[in-house]
Amino acid sequence: MPWESEKQLLRALYRKRAKHYDITANFYYLFGFREFAYRKKAVAALGLSAGDTVVEIGCGTGLNLCYLQKQVGPRGRIIGVDMTDEMLRRAQRRIQNKGWTNVELIQTDAAEYEFPEGVQGILSTFAITLIPEYDQIIRKGAEALRPGGRWVVLDLKLPPRWPRWLVRAGVAVSRPFGVTLDLAERHPWESLATYLPRYQQMELYGGLAYIAVGEK
Ligand SMILES: C[S@@+](CC[C@H](N)C(=O)[O-])C[C@H]1O[C@@H](n2cnc3c(N)ncnc32)[C@H](O)[C@@H]1O
Repeated sequence: MPWESEKQLLRALYRKRAKHYDITANFYYLFGFREFAYRKKAVAALGLSAGDTVVEIGCGTGLNLCYLQKQVGPRGRIIGVDMTDEMLRRAQRRIQNKGWTNVELIQTDAAEYEFPEGVQGILSTFAITLIPEYDQIIRKGAEALRPGGRWVVLDLKLPPRWPRWLVRAGVAVSRPFGVTLDLAERHPWESLATYLPRYQQMELYGGLAYIAVGEK
């Protein structure tokens, strides 16, 4: 499918999902998928300090914002990028409810986004694999990082030793979020390892999820 049509379908899907996104995220706990523990680990892996600037690609409803806030504090800056208006509307509501004044939301296709120079951290959770230009985005982000800055991806991948039926079941429960088996051909962790000199990867949930960290 051409990328533009794929993106339009994905945007329409997330517009529909936005209202119940935060609740459905908890659904995976029923299968032992400790999503929020993984989010915390991913944010910790950014190694941020108070006052730092961090960009989140595909920030959605802002489920990571509270963890990022804890790291960068009120003097820090958080930039959330997402292409779906309804997801960002919910993120905006969260920001207002919490009274945060250091978060900027940008509605755009991440492939079009220009990173500010000298950011300390870039995060993407359960989003970068959905974006066909993931390699280009990771490269541009790596260029914008300051020395010592980190790019962290938390996402799903095809587990190496899972039987076919289990993989199909995994894809079926993730389909409401636009996950399809052909996304398994996209390997953002390889891009991180290519563009950043220091690279580490942590396998989660039997290899179905991973946290990949590239440091400049
Ligand atoms: C599964 S949600 C993840 C949201 C959030 N990162 C989280 O962990 O809860 C995927 C998000 O990626 C966004 N997204 C998908 N393709 C995108 C693109 N090309 N540019 C920007 N955002 C995109 C969707 O709008 C959606 O909000």
